[in-house]
Amino acid sequence: MSAYKWLRRNVGQLLYERRYGVRTAERVDLADIGLDGEDRVYYAALNWRALRKALPKTEVSERDVFVDFGSGMGRVIVQASQYPFGRVIGVELSQELTEIARQNVRNMRVRRRCGEIELIASDVLDYAIPDDVSVAFFNNPFRGRIFSEVVNRLIASVDRAPRRVRMIYGNPLEEPYLMSTGRFRHLRTIALKPDPLGPPFGTIRTYDLLPK
Ligand SMILES: C[S@@+](CC[C@H](N)C(=O)[O-])C[C@H]1O[C@@H](n2cnc3c(N)ncnc32)[C@H](O)[C@@H]1O
Repeated sequence: MSAYKWLRRNVGQLLYERRYGVRTAERVDLADIGLDGEDRVYYAALNWRALRKALPKTEVSERDVFVDFGSGMGRVIVQASQYPFGRVIGVELSQELTEIARQNVRNMRVRRRCGEIELIASDVLDYAIPDDVSVAFFNNPFRGRIFSEVVNRLIASVDRAPRRVRMIYGNPLEEPYLMSTGRFRHLRTIALKPDPLGPPFGTIRTYDLLPK
């Protein structure tokens, strides 16, 4: 990347961070904080424009419960707090990143529209998915066995407590597994255009979890 592009991108990040009053931009390799492990993906935040494109506000009500699986420093939580969700939950492996996310939620300069915000420091494999979750968000947080286990638990939750669940999946590298379950129908794809002022862009897919 040229020095000019690098500068523009970093200045862009800084402007977003200042506008929202948060710190979410740096990348954290899990090995650097002693948490690396098979199928776990590093921390890097979602593009600032992504959630509002992937999930129109008109599609959310106070009956909806949002979970960000692998919530990191909480950029997506800050954005989800601007929707009328009944609850917004973040589950994150790192205690350190969860503390930063909590601070971000305390400091955020946004018009909060959601109900309770809960930030849980836990391996997702130790987390029991509540049976009222209706929007499950993944920004490529883990791969392989971890991903398939969490998806299977989501399906089991819907079979136990039938309801509409949408899954939003950024950088959907494990889509072949998702489709192999026969329980997901693709709803829409958002492909973000490169933004010289933002972080790297990507593809975000939304699916409906089908009833048994
Ligand atoms: C690509 S980042 C996404 C961060 C955030 N969702 C966002 O989009 O801004 C993936 C996050 O998943 C977390 N993660 C990886 N493996 C995990 C696991 N087994 N349980 C919980 N979180 C995990 C990482 O620590 C990292 O913060």
